[in-house]
Amino acid sequence: MSRAPHLLICVTGGIAAYKIAMVASHFVQTGALVDVAMTASALRFVGAPTFEGLTGRRVHTDLWHHPIDSNQPLHIQLPSQADAILVAPASANALAQMAHGLADDLISTLLLVADIKKLVVAPAMNEAMWKHPATQHNIEVLQRRGVKLVGPENGWQACRTVGAGRMSEPDAIISAVSAMLPAA
Ligand SMILES: Cc1cc2nc3c(=O)[nH]c(=O)nc-3n(C[C@H](O)[C@H](O)[C@H](O)COP(=O)(O)O)c2cc1C
Repeated sequence: MSRAPHLLICVTGGIAAYKIAMVASHFVQTGALVDVAMTASALRFVGAPTFEGLTGRRVHTDLWHHPIDSNQPLHIQLPSQADAILVAPASANALAQMAHGLADDLISTLLLVADIKKLVVAPAMNEAMWKHPATQHNIEVLQRRGVKLVGPENGWQACRTVGAGRMSEPDAIISAVSAMLPAA
């Protein structure tokens, strides 16, 4: 008997975090099992109850929370169980952590465990952050490593300007993730 596709969504601290609620809901509606992890900054933008209500599952925020029903810590268990891992919005900080292998919270640590072939990353930030040489270098490192990137696009930004760095729309993110998930 086939099992439900399993998606892990890693929400980091960008103002576009609210749009990822639509992505989570979409995959729940298609029959996927959706786990969500959030950074401390992401929790400033969207509350865990939003994703818990949409997915029917506990949101993971704490590297040090050990699930009692598992012999593996969360940072091993979550990426191992998932068929695909979406990082969206991917903050400039999250991109830097990924590029340099930093691991000081749940999401950065599990991304160091994750199979690169499972990853879809949707950067989202202000144009100055996106165009900064540090961010551009980090993006090049991730691309060379084979990480699948979606966007970002040019467009309206939360700082009320138009420029590069706007997160791709949920439909584009959903298409990229769907291509990585097994059929429901
Ligand atoms: C109102 C506000 C909006 C922000 N929007 C973004 C954003 O869209 N992208 C980004 O990379 N950082 C943004 N930041 C900064 C990040 O939240 C900050 O760098 C944070 O440390 C990221 O942490 P994380 O990667 O652990 O989630 C924003 C900060 C504030 C206060």
